[in-house]
Amino acid sequence: MHHAHVLLSICLACLAIGASAVSVLRPRFSGASSIALTQQTNTTGDTTVYRNDVARAQRLFGTGGETGRILNLGTRASSFPIQNQVVTFTAPVNFACFPGTTYNLIVDTGSSNTWTGAAKSINLEKSKTCKGTGNEVDVLYGSGAFEGNEYIDNITLFPALDDPPVARKQSIAVATFSEGFDGFDGILGMGPEDLTEDTRFPDQDEFLTVPQTLGLDVFSLSLTPNNGIGANGSNAGFLNLGSYTCPDSPMLQCSEPVSYTPITNASPANAYWGMNTSMAYGTLTGGPDDVLILSKTSGIVDSGTTLILISSSAFQAYLKATNGTQDQSTGQIIVTPDQFKQMKNFCFIFNTTTGETSRKCLTPDQQVWPTSQYAAIGGKCGNIYLVIADIGSVPVLSGSGIDFIAG
Ligand SMILES: *[C@@H]1O[C@H](CO)[C@@H](O)[C@H](O)[C@H]1NC(C)=O
Ligand SMILES: *[C@@H]1O[C@H](CO)[C@@H](O)[C@H](O)[C@H]1NC(C)=O
Ligand SMILES: *[C@@H]1O[C@H](CO)[C@@H](O)[C@H](O)[C@H]1NC(C)=O
Ligand SMILES: *[C@@H]1O[C@H](CO)[C@@H](O)[C@H](O)[C@H]1NC(C)=O
Ligand SMILES: *[C@@H]1O[C@H](CO)[C@@H](O)[C@H](O)[C@H]1NC(C)=O
Ligand SMILES: *[C@@H]1O[C@H](CO)[C@@H](O)[C@H](O)[C@H]1NC(C)=O
Repeated sequence: MHHAHVLLSICLACLAIGASAVSVLRPRFSGASSIALTQQTNTTGDTTVYRNDVARAQRLFGTGGETGRILNLGTRASSFPIQNQVVTFTAPVNFACFPGTTYNLIVDTGSSNTWTGAAKSINLEKSKTCKGTGNEVDVLYGSGAFEGNEYIDNITLFPALDDPPVARKQSIAVATFSEGFDGFDGILGMGPEDLTEDTRFPDQDEFLTVPQTLGLDVFSLSLTPNNGIGANGSNAGFLNLGSYTCPDSPMLQCSEPVSYTPITNASPANAYWGMNTSMAYGTLTGGPDDVLILSKTSGIVDSGTTLILISSSAFQAYLKATNGTQDQSTGQIIVTPDQFKQMKNFCFIFNTTTGETSRKCLTPDQQVWPTSQYAAIGGKCGNIYLVIADIGSVPVLSGSGIDFIAG
């Protein structure tokens, strides 16, 4: 998730609102809060962002949407490569059961299990108040996996705040085994609750409602624009609980109502924060030189994916429209400086519940991978890499209800 900050600050909030009728958001928090996210970029890895994203796409959909579900242990070892995420957004979290330590959790809207124990070991002896439920949890991600035991716990986000948001009686897990999470403690699962299916026990939750002005069950994610340079470290953006930021000012809490697009009912996108959209390459307002990249289809918005993956036929249309070439080594499109000068906006076009058609566009700058992160993709100086890439090596995805993953 990188350049699509404008889109995401709108879509995620809106999808969340749209979801309230069909699916319970979790965790729910006791008040509206804004939590600063940290972005970590691993520049030492030899894996490409593109390969990571495709591995995740495969895990999300290619094998039947197994993320966040119990899997046969036997399939774990050989079924996926262990890869480290290259660009990751994290939030600090405390657990009442394991006091005195702040854990650095990856914020993931594509999965719904919250767990810790990957990096810092957890002293279970110290925690007298918490009994495990006796349930084992086992989750496979595109870039890793964990096994652990379930606890019911109170989670405090961003404990340094004076009045930090607390989610009580949450199902969490403590890892007894994990792979692919070097440098991180675990995951804060912000995906729809249904994703966890058999790996947690919703009836044990006692969610507090979110008492805030909006009266909506909502969270949103707003990311600092990279503008070709790249955020790194703190202030990478915000996780807003019970609120959303203004579409044009990602740093401001918004009190005005925003229009939104509902969760798609097309399967399998509807299991995630999925939406219907079409995509065009051209002007901001639409016009004669608009190129239709993707006609109306469904896909998902996902904080755990870095690039914007689109179906192969859409990718070919975009490649042709930008006149770039697909780089064999990174998997991403390269354009020349001259081609870059000719580039136009890339737009998501979707309908809102108020009956309007909304266009959310990435400018040419926002379609480019930040130069400060070239090491992370194995990029060569002088090349210009684009962030819109081909989902196509996941054959089962094409035409199956997932035509894009907006990271
Ligand atoms: C960065 O990537 C390297 C190589 O893949 C890996 O050994 C290291 O643990 C990663 N670091 C983090 C913080 O993910
Ligand atoms: C969670 O909060 C509730 C209500 O404040 C409290 O009764 C309970 O003991 C807390 N649980 C833990 C594990 O601290
Ligand atoms: C989204 O697209 C699907 C498939 O064309 C359609 O059935 C559905 O009505 C559309 N709208 C929503 C909100 O799902
Ligand atoms: C938006 O609504 C128009 C008019 O009903 C329809 O033709 C179009 O397919 C819709 N677009 C999406 C992305 O749902
Ligand atoms: C596309 O790029 C090639 C060089 O890669 C160039 O020769 C050609 O003129 C470009 N076409 C357009 C329409 O810009
Ligand atoms: C990001 O920050 C970390 C820690 O300060 C540093 O090690 C890393 O090289 C930085 N990455 C980039 C791409 O600037």
